[in-house]
Amino acid sequence: MKDDNFLRANNAQHLWHPMGHPGDLRSHAPTIIMKAEGSSITDIDGHSTVDAVGGLWCVNLGYSNNAVKDAIAKQLYDLPYYSAFAGSTNPMAIEASYAVREFFAEDGMTRVFFTSGGSDSVETCLRLARQYHRLRGEPNRTKFLSLKKGYHGTHFGGASVNGNNRFRINYEPLLPGCFHMPSPYTYRNPFNETDPATLAQKIAAVMEDEIAFQGAGSIAAFIMEPILGAGGVIVPDASFMGLMRDICDRHGILMIADEVITGFGRTGDWSGARHWGVKPDMMSTAKGITSGYFPVGAALMNDKVADVFETAGEAGGIFHGYTYSAHPVGAAAVVACLAETLRLDTKSNAGPRGTQLYEGVQKLAERYDIIGDIRGGHGLMTGIEIVSDRAKKTPMDMATMKRIHKATYEAGVMVRLGMNNILMSPPLVITEDEVNVILAALDKGFAAA
Ligand SMILES: Cc1ncc(COP(=O)(O)O)c(C=O)c1O
Repeated sequence: MKDDNFLRANNAQHLWHPMGHPGDLRSHAPTIIMKAEGSSITDIDGHSTVDAVGGLWCVNLGYSNNAVKDAIAKQLYDLPYYSAFAGSTNPMAIEASYAVREFFAEDGMTRVFFTSGGSDSVETCLRLARQYHRLRGEPNRTKFLSLKKGYHGTHFGGASVNGNNRFRINYEPLLPGCFHMPSPYTYRNPFNETDPATLAQKIAAVMEDEIAFQGAGSIAAFIMEPILGAGGVIVPDASFMGLMRDICDRHGILMIADEVITGFGRTGDWSGARHWGVKPDMMSTAKGITSGYFPVGAALMNDKVADVFETAGEAGGIFHGYTYSAHPVGAAAVVACLAETLRLDTKSNAGPRGTQLYEGVQKLAERYDIIGDIRGGHGLMTGIEIVSDRAKKTPMDMATMKRIHKATYEAGVMVRLGMNNILMSPPLVITEDEVNVILAALDKGFAAA
């Protein structure tokens, strides 16, 4: 590796960063993270912080899982790559599909389509949903429903069902036929409804109305995150996903659970849908499937969907896939990661540590009235909405948000900003002491504001 001077001089000079302004980053260079251990990261200045972001909602096992690292290294020597396009496969792909299927058997998932990440998985679900209806003799079912504030990645399909204007506006026109329902966001919603269960009912009524307006026979699928992550950790009422499931069933619409963040234990259960007692028809997954150690995602299907393809004759062929679908090294990472996830029973740590974090932030809110809303309490996903006026709920300006971020980082914790939200999704192996470090650093961050 080149020396520190080289790294500093060339930082963001040639690399365009995802979700960053390429011009701004040339003058305000991103933090160079050099190494990581356990739940902590260390930057180029030797400053170590607890990583309350978990990489990017993904490093569920923390950074020191040697079983996953060894599996990846071994596979590189056995078979670094071979295509899984129809006609050939590899041992790890077979093992990984078995492991993923077992993992989500309780959710009714029985088939696995590997991808290279979350956006790919969403795209796969959307495309296969359309093909499913075509195979069943309903080719007009092409439209998609989703939630405002939802995040489903950046491919054209995912961006089209995304519910945040920022990820859409520069890339329009997007896919036609995508319609967005209000978000189960109790703090701010068009009904000014503060009761989560009543809000869920109101959104269900809007959804029914939209389906009647569009014509149920034109809608392929509804996609939602069981807990909305990037949109600010929006936790729906416990009834919400079940209400949506019921509507989908009554109108022949497939339900896709986007579990890219919520899958693999983050909510305190192995899937977010299971957390709400719902079985989707399809699931998009990524992130925790390899704990971020290798880029892998998977789209999953239940028997209802799979049977239609498998019994369809020639038309059931899937003309979709990626060069790196079922990549042997990725598959080896999946097998090892899922084994470690089960061995460490990470979901059982996510529950109490998530509660500790959530309740700790509630205590901080007694002292800092810039804390407008705290969302979480279901595993290790916590969102803190920062406001400049609590009564008026005025979103905090970005300069102050950045000041909070900087002070928190200097106090020993990396958090993530999503507009005026502080988003936290630490490794699921985080300890009680480390959560206390996060709370102490947030205290300093808020004080700086
Ligand atoms: C719910 C959800 N879906 C899809 C994606 C896209 O995943 P990726 O960035 O791996 O393409 C993300 C990324 O954060 C996500 O949170």
